Amino acid sequence: MRPTIATALLTCAGSALAQDFSHDGNYGAPVSRKNSGPMATGFIMSDAGTKSHQASPPKYPSPWGEGLGEWAQAYQQAKSFVSQLTLEEKVNLTTGTGWELESCVGQTGSIPRLAFRALCLQDSPVGIRDTDFNSVFPAGVNVAATFDRKLAKARGAAMGAEHKGKGVDVQLGPVAGPLGRTPEGGRNWEGFSPDPVLTGVMFAESIKGIQSQGVLASAKHFIGYEQEHFRLVSDSTGYGFNISEPNSANMDDETMHELYLWPFADGVRAGAASIMCSYNQVNNSQACQNSYVLNYLLKGELGFQGHVVSDWIGTHSGVASVLAGLDMTMPGDSAVYNSDDSYFGANLTVAVLNGTVPSWRIDDMAMRIMAGMYFVEGNRNRGDINFNSWSLDTYGYEHFYVGGAIGKINDHVDVRGDHGTLIRHLGAQSTVLLKNIDNTLPLTGKEKLTAVFGEDAGSNIDGPNDCSDRGCNNGTLGMAWGSGSANFPYLVTPDSAIQSELLSHGSAYESVLNNGALDSATTLARRANVSLVFANSDSGEWYIEVGSNLGDRNNLTFWGGGDELLDTVASQCNNTILVIHSTGPVLLEKWANHGNITAILWAGVPGQESGNSIADVLYGRVNPGAKLPFTVGKSRQDYGTDILYTPNESVPQLNFKEGLFIDYRSFDKHNTTPTFEFGFGLSYTTFSYSDLHVTKLNASEYVPSSGHTNPAPTYSNYSTDPADHLYPSNFSRIPLYHYPWLNSTNLTQASGDQHYGLPGFIPEGAQDGSAQPIPKAGGAPGGNPMLWDVLYRVEATVTNTGSVAGEEVPQLYISRGGPHDPVKELRGFERVPIQPNSSVTFCVDVTRRDISSWSTFEQDWYVRNSTKMVYVGSSSMNLPLSAVLP
Ligand code: NOJ
Repeated sequence: MRPTIATALLTCAGSALAQDFSHDGNYGAPVSRKNSGPMATGFIMSDAGTKSHQASPPKYPSPWGEGLGEWAQAYQQAKSFVSQLTLEEKVNLTTGTGWELESCVGQTGSIPRLAFRALCLQDSPVGIRDTDFNSVFPAGVNVAATFDRKLAKARGAAMGAEHKGKGVDVQLGPVAGPLGRTPEGGRNWEGFSPDPVLTGVMFAESIKGIQSQGVLASAKHFIGYEQEHFRLVSDSTGYGFNISEPNSANMDDETMHELYLWPFADGVRAGAASIMCSYNQVNNSQACQNSYVLNYLLKGELGFQGHVVSDWIGTHSGVASVLAGLDMTMPGDSAVYNSDDSYFGANLTVAVLNGTVPSWRIDDMAMRIMAGMYFVEGNRNRGDINFNSWSLDTYGYEHFYVGGAIGKINDHVDVRGDHGTLIRHLGAQSTVLLKNIDNTLPLTGKEKLTAVFGEDAGSNIDGPNDCSDRGCNNGTLGMAWGSGSANFPYLVTPDSAIQSELLSHGSAYESVLNNGALDSATTLARRANVSLVFANSDSGEWYIEVGSNLGDRNNLTFWGGGDELLDTVASQCNNTILVIHSTGPVLLEKWANHGNITAILWAGVPGQESGNSIADVLYGRVNPGAKLPFTVGKSRQDYGTDILYTPNESVPQLNFKEGLFIDYRSFDKHNTTPTFEFGFGLSYTTFSYSDLHVTKLNASEYVPSSGHTNPAPTYSNYSTDPADHLYPSNFSRIPLYHYPWLNSTNLTQASGDQHYGLPGFIPEGAQDGSAQPIPKAGGAPGGNPMLWDVLYRVEATVTNTGSVAGEEVPQLYISRGGPHDPVKELRGFERVPIQPNSSVTFCVDVTRRDISSWSTFEQDWYVRNSTKMVYVGSSSMNLPLSAVLP
């Protein structure tokens, strides 16, 4: 008999054309994966539509911001400001002043005449990089594992508040590229999940959270940045690889839209005020000067109203990049750090004066930057920048790299508030319970002797911040390495937290924190009532090599002898619990099936409260409810994608031949059974699913956007006489600093650098400021608003059938039913608390976007005439409820 249950009705979780363009095929150069329709032309791919040397078609002019959607007021305010600016002041907004010359990782010029201080751009996606008295939050991959929108937003708001408190204007995060095409990808942990819907939701909520504090989010890296190897020529040659250009991510048009662009659409719709373009090339055109991805996709189709900033040294040209959609260059230097010249700065002034960059375009660049400031109320309470990225000393050089005057450079403002509580909570809420034989967990703390094993449980004896940008793997893995790091204010290790827990119960506790001390481990494990083995796997950014891993991981096994330690302990103790800290999947098949390993927990990259968070789960104060944000396969080959570790050409070609089939989509397609599937996670209670209802709603028919923009507006006049743009008299220059003024009235020499006089090439249409057609799939930030019309409401009942309160993440998957579509794709989820013997209604509004496919031919979304299924359950492989979408 079913228990009597109390049902709480949830607000329905919004998760994405009523026409069938059965002729989807090719449209010019963008390549179609399917090529199935009668009008298909061009490349014919048997499996997936991508190939080496695929080209990005030119798309000009660069769309001008018009104040679409909620941006109208911000554009009005920006107009009043930008209309007052001189040409040089506009150029100053667009150009970094140079590497390590000012306080922030990136800093623009200022506008002293209007008391507008420089814009400060600062890493990172887990906190504030390169300062002190800041918090270190759990990484993006942990946020994804919570499947909890509210926590994503709360974390964003807390990070935004900390950045605001230090005087930062633009936080360089969150991350949706890499998405996670390969499990070894070095920076996957900075982002969320290889599932675009889960990433899109967490990305959007993080952006809203950050921007709620008056700080612009620079959502990054746009786009196709899926591996560290060969992302930049300079890094590559440093490691002995001879490449001539950054790698090229080659992908077809459907894969772009249905996978990699998807979360960015969510980010733009959420109001992202800044987007950072990436280091790689996309279809053999540099991402930061790729008119197809910046002009056509981002500013055209997605209606992005903010600014595009280059990744650091990711700008490869001046005029070409500006015409292709780049609005700000960072850190301002040209091809190498601390070069004496810039592609922007004075070169941009020259380009505007000689007409190669139209005046409407420089106005648009300034407008996009300033509109973002007004849009997020970035001008509100704009305090001083009170820290210095290059030194933690209180006093130091004002312009670090070149020295000069010494002054106060750090106020050491403590911006942490009570964020430690949120961080601890997030750490526990993101811990995934993968195995729990006979209710091994939770522990009581009264076990007579608890033993903890592994370097990953202890501290780095040289201190938590010993290695620059966390570029080592010593002690517990609270954070991975690279620019996505921050300095720990403290790091609670599992060793210390678990010891405190046990001492409070009067129990005995011992730990062996040396992975190589196998004899000691054997002796201790034999005596222990419960053995907890901590093992990890780290990764990071390409500019730091850790244990011969060049950012991307070389394998999916545990680091530092973790597997051997685990084997040793588990051979001695029949109550061995494995706790994993890792940036992504680790191979667990052997351990999942090991009779003495009674429980497995994945704790990800949890930040400063690591030990407290894991103790909360181990000792049952938190009932785990997180789910795997990726698949744990039985072997790395099972993923079907991998890093290109050795260049295949002088311009490494990364052919995304798998199309949409990454992570669980690939496992489904090839019918490969993983060890633990995407979306899987146990609880200390159990849940059942019943009563699936699908209601078709009366949404109006999809209408492609149409019409034209207004002609490009211009906001001021300037003298075209070079003499009016020379350096002010008696101006004292800081060495290596990038200024907007000219050295000479001879425009071929006026910028004073090596780049003058190069033969110019202006792509057709690039200077055209006349009204332009609005893309069918565009018309508003994020894309055609009708994509978010709700077509169906899906409801199901989830019941807590166990004896303790718990949290479940019911998941909704859809099969779009086309011959080349994935078996199923996540389209909705909600994290819900449920009391024992109680039920909740899980409710998802299925949008038009959720069941649409991209038509390469129409360059628009459409609903295929196919049988579509909806599935509901607790993971991607446990979906007890299903129905046809009527
Ligand atoms: C390069 C990284 O790719 C990017 O994520 C970061 O924001 C910049 N460096 C600035 O540190």
